[in-house]
Amino acid sequence: MPPTTPSTTPSTTPSTTPSTPPTTPSTTPSTSPSSPGGGTGHVANPFLGATSYLNPDYAGEVNAQVAADQPSNPTLAASEAKMADFPTAVWMDKIAAITGTGDSVHHGLQWHLDQALTQQQAGTPITLEVVIYDLPGRDCAALASNGEIPATAAGLTEYESQYIDPISTILADPKYAGIRIVAIVEPDSLPNAVTNQSKPACATATPFYEQGVEYALNKLHAIPNVYNYVDIAHSAWLGWSSNMGPAAQEFAKVAKATTAGVASVDGFISDTANYTPTTEPFLPNSTLQIGGNPLDSAKFYQYNPYFDEYDYDQAMYTQLVGQGFSPNIGMLIDTSRNGWGGPNRPTVLNTSPTTVDTYVAANKVDQRSFRGDWCNQNGAGIGARPTVQPYGAANHIIAFVWIKPPGESDGDYPTATHTHGDPHCDPNGTNTDGNGGTYSTGSIPGYDVPAGQWFAAEFQQEVTNAYPAL
Ligand code: BGC
Repeated sequence: MPPTTPSTTPSTTPSTTPSTPPTTPSTTPSTSPSSPGGGTGHVANPFLGATSYLNPDYAGEVNAQVAADQPSNPTLAASEAKMADFPTAVWMDKIAAITGTGDSVHHGLQWHLDQALTQQQAGTPITLEVVIYDLPGRDCAALASNGEIPATAAGLTEYESQYIDPISTILADPKYAGIRIVAIVEPDSLPNAVTNQSKPACATATPFYEQGVEYALNKLHAIPNVYNYVDIAHSAWLGWSSNMGPAAQEFAKVAKATTAGVASVDGFISDTANYTPTTEPFLPNSTLQIGGNPLDSAKFYQYNPYFDEYDYDQAMYTQLVGQGFSPNIGMLIDTSRNGWGGPNRPTVLNTSPTTVDTYVAANKVDQRSFRGDWCNQNGAGIGARPTVQPYGAANHIIAFVWIKPPGESDGDYPTATHTHGDPHCDPNGTNTDGNGGTYSTGSIPGYDVPAGQWFAAEFQQEVTNAYPAL
């Protein structure tokens, strides 16, 4: 013991991407009567007192799956049908997504905002989540979602003028002023700028990520009903103290460069499109001694003291406020696919294992073999439902949200017949931990589905393994 040396960064990059709370939250975002004006004015928690936009594109994907599964498995279909009733984000993952011409399934931004207006109840604000995701050199450490814009000065200009400007123009339309627009700003980008400088593509992209995010924050913050949440990856990526401090500094550096400074950021989001649990209910103490070693020395944790998103977000909050962000920043967690229910989920604490590795294996709800696995994870389940103030008004975690639409693939992998993709999405491929450990990618065997496309087997499994059950 210990099998691993204190690690610095996980060598595989958890990608874009998002358990269960200690106290069970209620249900969906509630409508409470605190904002009679319909949502204008910039509030501390945009989800509070608001209803949520239900994305009809997503409901269409879900309902098609329900219809397909109904004849052979009506029980599964009934659970699947419930998925259409929860809010999921609208992804602006390419310039063509703005006009809705990127694919045949997803409508454009204006269409979604118009739909939100029709869903809005008189006198009650409505939230709509939009993911800003098209930086120059996007996805520099993982090729599953690599972008359309090159990491060059011309690429930055294209990002600003062809992507951010048109989005801002649409969002600033006065007819949408009553919609609380929650912008999820560029998943994975600044985290890659912190931990992946050894990868040439990330080193090249970093200045464009920083300038691109600065530009996006400036344009979006100028619209009073837009709320900016910057992506902070997740505990299994930035949880080591050698990553967390520098990451908080990086977020502050970029925010302070904006016109409004740190005020252009309303908060942060963790676990976007990832699978890390919100809590590890049977592993609350990372320094618990088992067989003379602390739990975080287990191979699975690699001396990362943050086992889950709850603890990570609390610690990150402290770091961020320490870097000058307002104490009023709100933390979000993408809980869309981090539930890890199903038959392999432990239900009671097992105290018999005598080594850290066996103790962790017996008690963790995260069923991955390696925390750096991030693509189409086999065995994953839908997580906690979107919830406002899941831990009460005093907690810095202001909401659980579903940013990654469950059932849409994380990415494909290169094969003889197509070159696109990421080896980390190959079910027969491996990931390494940087300390000599090699693990399965954990991707669902037998499939190769491009990022963002419907992946029926993944959806069926996630619904089956939902925790709490649907
Ligand atoms: C993909 C996007 C997709 C989004 C939502 C991302 O991982 O890169 O293309 O729109 O997931 O499914």
